[in-house]
Amino acid sequence: MPIQLFESEDHASTYVRARPSPPASLINAIVDFLDSGNLRNENGSWPKAVDVGAGSGQTTFLIKDYFDEILGVDISAAQIAEANKRNKYPNISFKVARAESIPLEDKSVNLLTASQCLHWFDLTSFYEEVDRLLAPGGVFAAFGYICYPIRSPNDCPVADKMAQLIEKAFNNLEDMGLWEQPAMNFLHSKYENLKLPYRDSKRITNIICPVTYSGESFLDYITSWSAYNTLASKSPEKADIFIEDIANRMKDILGTCDFGSVQIKLNFEFFLLMARK
Ligand SMILES: C[S@@+](CC[C@H](N)C(=O)[O-])C[C@H]1O[C@@H](n2cnc3c(N)ncnc32)[C@H](O)[C@@H]1O
Repeated sequence: MPIQLFESEDHASTYVRARPSPPASLINAIVDFLDSGNLRNENGSWPKAVDVGAGSGQTTFLIKDYFDEILGVDISAAQIAEANKRNKYPNISFKVARAESIPLEDKSVNLLTASQCLHWFDLTSFYEEVDRLLAPGGVFAAFGYICYPIRSPNDCPVADKMAQLIEKAFNNLEDMGLWEQPAMNFLHSKYENLKLPYRDSKRITNIICPVTYSGESFLDYITSWSAYNTLASKSPEKADIFIEDIANRMKDILGTCDFGSVQIKLNFEFFLLMARK
């Protein structure tokens, strides 16, 4: 049975407002790896990419200039609806589909990405699908980020306290048993023991991604978590108390309750694993 934790429309619209997209340096690392083994077309692009578990297009839109055609797939119709609302590119389309059964031809794909989602997949079936879809020389790239930001005690005490607040919220949801395991531990290990499908491979960690939140979008980030949504569906009252407590702590740290006017600069850590067929 697939794990489906991103299904509601509210969740998908919060997700689009608050989730980080991978930084340019990560996309460049994928393009360099692809370039080192795959000739581009005369127009300078490659024929096809598929972004699996695409969410609302956090990665799909970032690779738009490198491919003639890109398909984003996700098991959640609500996520795909948000992705379609944002899509203004003729070479990008989105479809509801499972990672383990993607509606594309054998050996038709030059790049297959899975961003912040591999830990939710049935890996054995997914790897069969990766191997079926990739053209010879094609690249599989799995990446993600640690859910709480990097602590920065010396740079900026306020940012450090806000980063700590997210980490504490994450741990509180963990103590309530609301994070899906072992998926989340696997993510936070940076997929350490993941066996990549091909020998020609590369791992990069410590990719820094700066994100600026308003006080409101900071709260949105926390309410976009699957564990928070599980709490909200089990007990809306407890979810309200959980988020009110965080908002009160934010007022103390930021010295204001005008959350729309503040800017909170945080750094997330991304990691990237790539393998070439
Ligand atoms: C944390 S979100 C990541 C979304 C986006 N790629 C990003 O980087 O923010 C995980 C996504 O994976 C999707 N997902 C989970 N299991 C899936 C599966 N078996 N097949 C396709 N999508 C799946 C969820 O619906 C969700 O949109």
